[in-house]
Amino acid sequence: MDFQLTDEQEMLRKMVRDFAVNDVEPTAAERDEEERFDRGIFDKMAELGLTGIPWPEEYGGIGSDYVSYCIAVEELSRVCASTGVTLSAHISLASWPLYTYGTEAQKKNFLSRLATGEALGAYALSEPGAGSDVVAMKTTAKEDGDDYILNGSKVWITNGGVADIYIVFAKTDADAKHKGISGFIVEKGTEGFTFGKKEKKLGIRSSPTTELIFENCRIPKENMLGAEGEGFKIAMTTLDGGRNGIASQALGIAQGALDASVNYAKEREQFGKPIANNQGISFKLADMATEIEASRLLTYQAAWLESQGKPYGKASAMSKLFAGDAAMRITVEAVQVFGGYGYTKDYPVERYMRDAKITQIYEGTNEIQRMVIGRMVTK
Ligand code: CAA
Ligand code: FAD
Repeated sequence: MDFQLTDEQEMLRKMVRDFAVNDVEPTAAERDEEERFDRGIFDKMAELGLTGIPWPEEYGGIGSDYVSYCIAVEELSRVCASTGVTLSAHISLASWPLYTYGTEAQKKNFLSRLATGEALGAYALSEPGAGSDVVAMKTTAKEDGDDYILNGSKVWITNGGVADIYIVFAKTDADAKHKGISGFIVEKGTEGFTFGKKEKKLGIRSSPTTELIFENCRIPKENMLGAEGEGFKIAMTTLDGGRNGIASQALGIAQGALDASVNYAKEREQFGKPIANNQGISFKLADMATEIEASRLLTYQAAWLESQGKPYGKASAMSKLFAGDAAMRITVEAVQVFGGYGYTKDYPVERYMRDAKITQIYEGTNEIQRMVIGRMVTK
């Protein structure tokens, strides 16, 4: 076994950390307060090659691996979880299915634009009545000559409104349950495709979450992703890897909260000594550090398995479950370490606590992760 990151992975971590600290962190609190997405940050990520980390150079990527991708999401989320999920949804949810299921023409057109960062991506599966229960979706795609006509709406879409390319799932056969779902590539600006409500959220407030509306939206057949009826499989296998992106986000949030807590506990004095000198505080820091290390090992292992071409679905569900629950516990404790100051916006830990909660909810709630893992260990 080799737990050492490669020189390339270490260099990427340093590059992303510098970028995160210098270009992302300074405006993180302000963007959170104003619920403002900053396309300029995404454009800078593109300049650094981050928007195409795992994809081959022939498709505009930098030919790196999934561990590097996780490190990038982790480092961004360490200072701003909204920026972390922008990249995670872009790579794991929009680009991955194109790379895996796209035709050569679709890769050359759509994947290349995503990888270079010319275009931003999004993934649209959830609906008002179909969150955990994906098969309950109502959006339809009816064949009509050389096109499909989409009708329905999608909710909670990360990068919604600001993204240029959307991977959208719809029912091509209402009676065939999961075998009646198909995937489509839909570009912003297509007639009949508009945006609805933008959610006002507890956390990740500078990541836009928006409703998508399809009204007789005509999509050419060449924009179907995979074969007709293959959409559920495409959606599920996409989430297999995507969940590890969210584990990386949770890991980064937790690390940011620990770093802030350690610094504060060493500086803040009560009863004539730093609060870190109390065992009650140092035990909290020890538990936080231990859970972060366990999250990191699970997350990097799942990414390594994917890079090696080995099965990674269970590992990814486990990393998301563990790192998400850990990030929630850790950020609550970070606020406690800061006392009353932690409850104010003068310090970042209240933002970390609000941001951590989403990692237990999206890309399958942690109850759904337990269901996925439970089915795998008992089958
Ligand atoms: N890979 C390949 N095939 C899979 C699969 C996978 N991961 N999971 C299921 N399948 C196959 C099954 O083998 C089965 O095939 P057969 O019929 O041939 O046996 C078929 O698909 C149906 O599977 P299930 O019976 O397990 O389906 P289900 O209806 O019980 O649903 C579920 C399973 C795991 C609960 C699924 O619905 C699910 O993942 N729900 C959560 C949805 C989710 O995660 N949404 C995230 C939206 S994206 C997001 O949130 C973005 C963001 O964070 C930024
Ligand atoms: P429900 O499915 O209604 O679940 C409600 C509660 O019941 C949860 O606690 C759940 O765990 C529990 N529950 C449900 N079924 C079971 C069961 N069988 N056993 C035990 N417990 C169960 N979706 C996208 O497609 N694309 C995106 O980009 C995207 N981004 C998102 C961003 C944000 C900020 C949010 C909040 C959501 C996003 N989602 C996105 C949707 C997200 O994936 C769903 O919210 C999530 O899958 C849960 O669905 P739901 O909200 O309908 O909850």
